Amino acid sequence: MHPDVESILFSEEQLKKRVEEIGAQITRDFAGKQPLFVGVLKGSFMFMADLMRCVDLSCSVDFMAVSSYGNKSVSTGAVKINKDLSADIEGMDVIMVEDILDSGKTLDYLRGYLNGRKPASISIVTLLDKPARRTAPIQADYSGFEIPDAFVVGYGLDYAEKYRNLPYVGILKPCVYENE
Ligand code: IMP
Ligand code: MG
Repeated sequence: MHPDVESILFSEEQLKKRVEEIGAQITRDFAGKQPLFVGVLKGSFMFMADLMRCVDLSCSVDFMAVSSYGNKSVSTGAVKINKDLSADIEGMDVIMVEDILDSGKTLDYLRGYLNGRKPASISIVTLLDKPARRTAPIQADYSGFEIPDAFVVGYGLDYAEKYRNLPYVGILKPCVYENE
């Protein structure tokens, strides 16, 4: 285990099993459709890559990049779009893929933004959900795990751009960010 990690919340095996379940569910729910998966960079990249391999549909992929956190562990609520979609989504079934739903401000903003382009539908998949911290009116259609109010890293999730490569999700030791 990484020395900055306090404890492992979800192991590689647990993540794999849950991602397979969500992939199978999406495959059933979108049967006969050709959804567009929109990954919200950067945190979703690992989940997205694993999830798509578990989806047995004719589908496509795009990415958006937003910044919300900077190097702090507390959300400012401000969402800046650094990279937009590369193609039109009118009439498409869009599945937004997030690493974690925290306050929900990021996804709430993005959903409204994409809705303006007249997709047929927008669904939300998140690997992790911290419902206790929700302030925006948003709920995931598919959620991997509910987690307590702790700062987690790994499997794509970062703190100050580090730890994304850890193959598990772990709770970061508070001493790593407390001195900021
Ligand atoms: P929201 O807008 O507050 O829902 O924030 C969502 C974004 O905040 C996520 O996509 C993450 O990038 C980041 N975030 C929230 N909580 C955590 C955490 O525990 N670890 C790492 N990143 C987090
Ligand atoms: Mg993110």
